Amino acid sequence: MKEATLKALLCKQFGPPESLVLEEVPSPKPGPGEVVLSVKAASVNFPDVLIIQNKYQFKPPLPFSLGNELAGVVKEVGEGVTNAKPGDRVIAFTTYGAFAEEAKTDATRLLPMPKGMDFPSAASFILTYGTTDHALRDRGRLKAGETLLVLGAAGGVGIAAIEVGKAMGAHVIACASSDEKLAVCREHGADETINYAAGDLREGIKGITGGKGVDVIYDAVGGPYTEPAFRSIAWRGRLLVIGFAAGDIPKLPLNLPLLKGADVVGVFWGDFTRREPKAFLESARQLMRWFEEGKLKPHVSATFPLEKAAEAMNLLASRKAKGKVVVQIGA
Ligand SMILES: NC(=O)c1ccc[n+]([C@@H]2O[C@H](COP(=O)([O-])OP(=O)(O)OC[C@H]3O[C@@H](n4cnc5c(N)ncnc54)[C@H](OP(=O)(O)O)[C@@H]3O)[C@@H](O)[C@H]2O)c1
Repeated sequence: MKEATLKALLCKQFGPPESLVLEEVPSPKPGPGEVVLSVKAASVNFPDVLIIQNKYQFKPPLPFSLGNELAGVVKEVGEGVTNAKPGDRVIAFTTYGAFAEEAKTDATRLLPMPKGMDFPSAASFILTYGTTDHALRDRGRLKAGETLLVLGAAGGVGIAAIEVGKAMGAHVIACASSDEKLAVCREHGADETINYAAGDLREGIKGITGGKGVDVIYDAVGGPYTEPAFRSIAWRGRLLVIGFAAGDIPKLPLNLPLLKGADVVGVFWGDFTRREPKAFLESARQLMRWFEEGKLKPHVSATFPLEKAAEAMNLLASRKAKGKVVVQIGA
């Protein structure tokens, strides 16, 4: 009998998105505790851009199919799986393997799709909002009435930070590199905006906060923005270190946190989900509730078929994407 196959986008050698190849590979079979999913949509995250260039902290062996998160339908479950059955609509966070017609994953990496959520939105949900909820509620201890500064606010995790910040009652200042991106931030609830490509970030913060500074900084960008933002932090402020989309990992003079009694706080959502699964599930439940209450609205700005996934990735890599870019798979 002919072996069942499926199409998968493979990274066979490290390089830019153009070096990815679409190939037929054998259909996966679930082992104990695993599930196989028919993938309907998978979203692009910045780590996908890094992982194919061998610049990410996690390095899967070559060849691998990339893609961190997906939404799909359970096709088959392995022995001992009790939280999913064939036909269930689920979200999965896979680290890699989502840009394919089928994906195999551990059943612990699944969440049920909330009612009223479509596949592209479901594929855009847990990584960005999960990271942000862990960052703002857990690591950052953001309180209602505090001021939250979001760098790269029109990006994937950036829009999530605006919405979770507003859901928690914060006053949100969104920073981005164009007025077009800032308009999207306003649509998602930002109270104030700063175009940090057109003007001085510190002056912008000073004007908005009357010189007091910001309580929490959500920094997924790094590069030239971290230090000026941190110099504008309020007494007892918290800098949340999320990522370095600008490329450079900034260095901070340690007299700055001393002078402000401020914290520099690392956020690593992937390890949080593995090390603290109960806390992660509590966080996911809160996010589902906020979605059902209409407080979270995943922003899918562009969709591509699997054959054009490289274009989807280049949109992110070239700083042109707003919100999430999604690869749609199958019918
Ligand atoms: N710590 C964690 O657990 C965790 C979890 C998820 C993601 N992350 C990290 O968070 C960062 C953002 O991820 P994302 O998926 O939200 O990415 P994204 O959608 O591409 O957003 C990143 C934003 O960074 C800004 N940026 C500044 N310089 C850039 C450059 N040279 N190239 C690209 N973007 C640039 C862009 O906004 P402007 O043009 O407005 O500046 C862009 O919107 C990544 O570093 C990712 O690895 C970390």
